[in-house]
Amino acid sequence: MEIIIQPTTEAAAGIAARIIARLLRDKPDAVLGLATGSTPLPLYQALVAMNLDWSKVTTFNLDEYIGLPREHPQSYHSFMWENLFRQVNIAPENVHIPDGNAPDIPAFCASYENQIRAAGGIDLQVLGIGTDGHIGFNEPTSSLASRTRIKTLTPQTRKDNARFFGSEDSVPHHVITMGIGTIMEARLNLLLAFGPSKANAVAEAVEGPVTSINPASVLQMHPVVKVCLDEPAAGQLQRADYFRWVYENKPAWQAF
Ligand code: GLP
Repeated sequence: MEIIIQPTTEAAAGIAARIIARLLRDKPDAVLGLATGSTPLPLYQALVAMNLDWSKVTTFNLDEYIGLPREHPQSYHSFMWENLFRQVNIAPENVHIPDGNAPDIPAFCASYENQIRAAGGIDLQVLGIGTDGHIGFNEPTSSLASRTRIKTLTPQTRKDNARFFGSEDSVPHHVITMGIGTIMEARLNLLLAFGPSKANAVAEAVEGPVTSINPASVLQMHPVVKVCLDEPAAGQLQRADYFRWVYENKPAWQAF
């Protein structure tokens, strides 16, 4: 894991944007895995400002609420079109977001996995992290080998996401999410975390044991993970000084 700690959220998101920009320049038909929530917003803003060519890019989103109409302002469909896709030249047929209204959810989940495989797998997966360490909507105790499937949100996650819905009662209980096994097959995982509310989950994920109680900790088993943090999100890392030194002393050819 490469831990990149930056003084501001914008600087951390800017590095993540440069990592993605480099991929899209090297591989214009890259397959990106994308995330929602408040965390990736500064990343998407930075990417839009870079005016990259998205015409050959394919995307797969991590997750979606079950039962919310696609056009609901809090659906992840709405989120992605509003905050990224409408502002870049992506081909709509190359955008994949789980269908939370699919009549047969297990069949949809299996076909989502097949579509990822048919696209050649995910080159780079963007991840946020929940305050409980969830990635996608893989809540604590999710199987570390799980594939795309239905999950039930924990009370904590519904509470965390109530800010988007106005009330906790309006937050759906069920979601479709890529599994941890699916995420682990991405060639590069790019995890972003900002703010003090993520500090504990980040410290457990990076420095704690690998455990399904903190699903993000499984990334310790992945060969290429970059973690972009602002200072508050890095606030509970015991080795923060080491991570800062490593980043500041990278050989020039490794710099972003
Ligand atoms: C959400 C999403 C995750 C996201 C996490 C953190 O519920 N399903 O993909 O990473 O929880 O959200 P936020 O970035 O808003 O803190």
